[in-house]
Amino acid sequence: MIQPAGRAASEGRRLDGRAAAAAIRAEVAAGVAAMAARSEPPPCLAAVLVGDDPASAVYVRNKLKACGETGLLSREHRLGAGAGRQELLGLLRSLNDDDAVDGILVQMPLPAGLDRREVIEAIDPAKDVDGFHPVNVGRLWSGGEGFVPCTPLGIVQLLDRSGVPLEGAEAVVLGRSEIVGKPMAALLLARHATVTVCHSRTPSLARIASRADLLVAAIGRPAFVTREFIKPGATVIDVGINQVGDEARARELFPHEPERAEQVRRRGYTLVGDVHPAHAAQRAGAWTPVPGGVGPLTVALLLSNTLKAARLRRASRRPQAEIP
Ligand code: GUN
Repeated sequence: MIQPAGRAASEGRRLDGRAAAAAIRAEVAAGVAAMAARSEPPPCLAAVLVGDDPASAVYVRNKLKACGETGLLSREHRLGAGAGRQELLGLLRSLNDDDAVDGILVQMPLPAGLDRREVIEAIDPAKDVDGFHPVNVGRLWSGGEGFVPCTPLGIVQLLDRSGVPLEGAEAVVLGRSEIVGKPMAALLLARHATVTVCHSRTPSLARIASRADLLVAAIGRPAFVTREFIKPGATVIDVGINQVGDEARARELFPHEPERAEQVRRRGYTLVGDVHPAHAAQRAGAWTPVPGGVGPLTVALLLSNTLKAARLRRASRRPQAEIP
């Protein structure tokens, strides 16, 4: 097989998240176009950003831009860092009641002083396109139909589209967050994988991880997953996004990508996930790069969940006889 220039001959397969995300976005755009053909308005996503966290502002901007590119409508609601509980809950009530709004997301993390749980529970579960509301969490774990968090849903889409089998696979999830680790475990269980969830208090992490046919790393520690965590030939999914600001470290992490050290020189950092990229490339059968792996899928599945919310809300309003 001919290898791209600069890559080691024995590299595992890179799973292209950008290509899978583009395919999902095209499917969403086709769904929106079909609504337009029936003279229905496009689905509408309302994004709420509280405070001035620059990373959150970038994420929300990317989500809104993706809506525009796919034909979805969007609204941005910005509240200052000092926004009170009543102001935010009042906004969510008005978005719940607004028939023109199909999906609502509140970008996390929230500023100190706001109760994440209370805020999530204030969103109408039928508009909860992040899948964070306990009603949707319960539906996911009990096998019902609801909204599933976008990152794990995107990972399953990527695995399916890449032909990675899940049934009977030994899967290890590193991280137990509400956004990634826990829903990832639920989705993999529903697909008949054998699932182990590890976290910061798990002893012998590497020993457990190295059993996995499918390893999902979502722990927020740069390049933490090194070769001894990876069973040869395993599929390794890297959910982390971390900055590395040291040129020598960038050269060690990316021996075949000299442009990474150059990025550190030019803009002060390069991005690395929770998995050591050179070790994954050497040992894994398939692995996701950072950037260009899981990241683009999160946004694509948010669009897909918003389309689904619009379909379900509109179907629930139609007389039964009209529902196909
Ligand atoms: N913060 C990090 N990931 C997410 C996400 O998927 N949705 C929201 N609302 N906030 C996040």
